[in-house]
Amino acid sequence: MPKLPEPSIGDTSWFVHDRFGLFIHWGIYALPARHEWVKHRERIHDEDYQKYFDHFYPDLYDPTVWAREAKNAGMKYFVVTSKHHDGFCLWDSALTDYKATNTPWGKDVLTPMVEAFRAEGFKVGFYHSLIDWHHPEFPIDGLHPLRDDVALREAQKHRDIRKYAEYLHGQTRELLTQFGRIDIMWFDFSYSERDWGWSKGKGKDDWRSEELMAIVREFQPGIIVNDRLEIGGDFKTPEQYQPRGWMEVNGKPVVWEACQTLNGSWGYDRDNLDWKPVEMLVQMLVDTVSKGGNLLLNVGPNARGEFEPKAIERLRGIGEWMRLHGRSIYGCTASDFTPPPDCRYTQNGNRLYLHLFSWPFRHVHLDGLGDRVEYAQLLNDGSEIKMRVIDPNQEANLIFMSGTPGTLTLELPVQKPPVAVPVIELFLKE
Ligand code: GLC
Repeated sequence: MPKLPEPSIGDTSWFVHDRFGLFIHWGIYALPARHEWVKHRERIHDEDYQKYFDHFYPDLYDPTVWAREAKNAGMKYFVVTSKHHDGFCLWDSALTDYKATNTPWGKDVLTPMVEAFRAEGFKVGFYHSLIDWHHPEFPIDGLHPLRDDVALREAQKHRDIRKYAEYLHGQTRELLTQFGRIDIMWFDFSYSERDWGWSKGKGKDDWRSEELMAIVREFQPGIIVNDRLEIGGDFKTPEQYQPRGWMEVNGKPVVWEACQTLNGSWGYDRDNLDWKPVEMLVQMLVDTVSKGGNLLLNVGPNARGEFEPKAIERLRGIGEWMRLHGRSIYGCTASDFTPPPDCRYTQNGNRLYLHLFSWPFRHVHLDGLGDRVEYAQLLNDGSEIKMRVIDPNQEANLIFMSGTPGTLTLELPVQKPPVAVPVIELFLKE
């Protein structure tokens, strides 16, 4: 019986079926093009950061192009930054002037994006930052861009987190009442464990997380909410690492989603050339599903409103693999069988998928599957894979290998199939 995660309050049934989503980090940080934390990293004051607001004009922006690239990559849902840590809002919020409609672009960029992705059949999610380095009531702490300006910190001691929390709750209501059905709320992030002496990190008491969660559930009953409010959530969100196994809470497997970048940065980072190859990205997707998780893969569009060529190249490369191997991902989860070295299993009922991360010479041995498989084929072309159980009593000799009890041996072509990750589909006996 495949392992099942602990139940969540929100409806995760579609989520654990679809497995693969697009993360979009976009905002005025695309203009400096030096990572979405540029305001923090370079300790930029508001008046100096204003030039990026004053030059926000994504004239090549067409979210339908984004949606179609993501769909072609095999993605089924998307999560976009309605607001990131710098406080800039992509929609026409009534609660602030620091928004896209007030830039030279002069238009809400979030509504057309939601419509374009929905038109391509996507589920919709918002990444909304709890942190706000622009809001006048957000108290300056050790993460704030103005953290080292002691005089200004003194002068700004009056900032009232309760007023900021009202703003946060108000915008959350806007996002959950003005864009139709929202399937995911992705808050980011709490850091109450941090202590800089002169200031402490912020967490559930600052955001009034219980009330915030209640607002989310009230306006969007089936929605799923991530785990960064410090009060649990419907799914765990490991970031920029691959877990060693199924994520657990109190020893129990839970719904989880790894969020990953294409090059180490979430926001557009022009000079960052640390791009992951397609093969590694496909292996990360397979590895994640083989451990019962989802992959949320990020793109940081540039200031003209486009996905950069290297990002498109990788989405299309993944898409080519997903076109042939999608059924080894969608509706699949971890298997109870233990895969051979350098391999992963994903399973959907009596279909077991062997993903080979390195192509062995002639044979692969599947422990525990000796008498469990009625047919095997390469998934990319549907060609039969011969299989046999080698007699465990047979001595290894010049040309014959010895057998292992309960092991099924597959005969492989010498040539690795021309795909990022070859997959063998095994039809298990009922
Ligand atoms: C981290 C980064 C933030 C990014 C998020 C995505 O919290 O600080 O910039 O948006 O991860 O998971």
